[in-house]
Amino acid sequence: MGAPDEAGSRPFRLGVLISGSGSNLQSIIDRLHKGAAAADAGAGDDARAIEVSLVISDNVSAYGLKRAQNNGIPTAVFPMDDYADRVQHDLAMADELEKHGVDLVVLAGYMLIVTPAFLERFPQAVINLHPSLLPAFPGGTPIEDTMDYGARVTGVTVHFVDAGTDTGPIILQEAVEIKYNDTVESLRERIHAVEHRLLPRAIELISEGRVSFDEANPRFVIIS
Ligand code: GRF
Repeated sequence: MGAPDEAGSRPFRLGVLISGSGSNLQSIIDRLHKGAAAADAGAGDDARAIEVSLVISDNVSAYGLKRAQNNGIPTAVFPMDDYADRVQHDLAMADELEKHGVDLVVLAGYMLIVTPAFLERFPQAVINLHPSLLPAFPGGTPIEDTMDYGARVTGVTVHFVDAGTDTGPIILQEAVEIKYNDTVESLRERIHAVEHRLLPRAIELISEGRVSFDEANPRFVIIS
């Protein structure tokens, strides 16, 4: 992560990885990109300029790429089929992110699992957004799984990425109540509304140097 003493000298640079629609990318652009945070009445004294420096997708037709281009943000596509294996794919992606001087990598609806080789390049600087209250309902279909289980409360988690699937230290969580007449789609809509606030908030806190690990228990994230 970028050192806090760099604050103010240059923007805090994000690399955002997406696979599809990119509505969360859009909320990052609207709320944080290039001074949007400063314009926000909620931005505190510690606020540091944030820039989405690069958007990467594994999927050439991801609508999120268009959202980036509409905002003048550089994009790159890394289809898995173009590489011998996942490690080669991820190392090429890491090279591109490094070229753009990225401080934090944000997985915002990126549907591939990143390899340990990738994580080593960005220590404690890769975060993910997941539409459940982890550790409940990890994996690829959490909203469906939550509904099938009959849970009454679910939510949104933003967490650091480690070598497991949806297992990294949790930064922020917010609960969403499940209504008796909810469908997967109506629940997804309310979860999205929370995601669109929670992910930018976590990014802002990290950019301000306010997120650290408890030395006694590195799973425990401290927000100051
Ligand atoms: C989000 O619900 C996120 O939690 C999940 O994938 C979805 C992506 O949505 N990992 P979008 O592409 O940002 O609209």
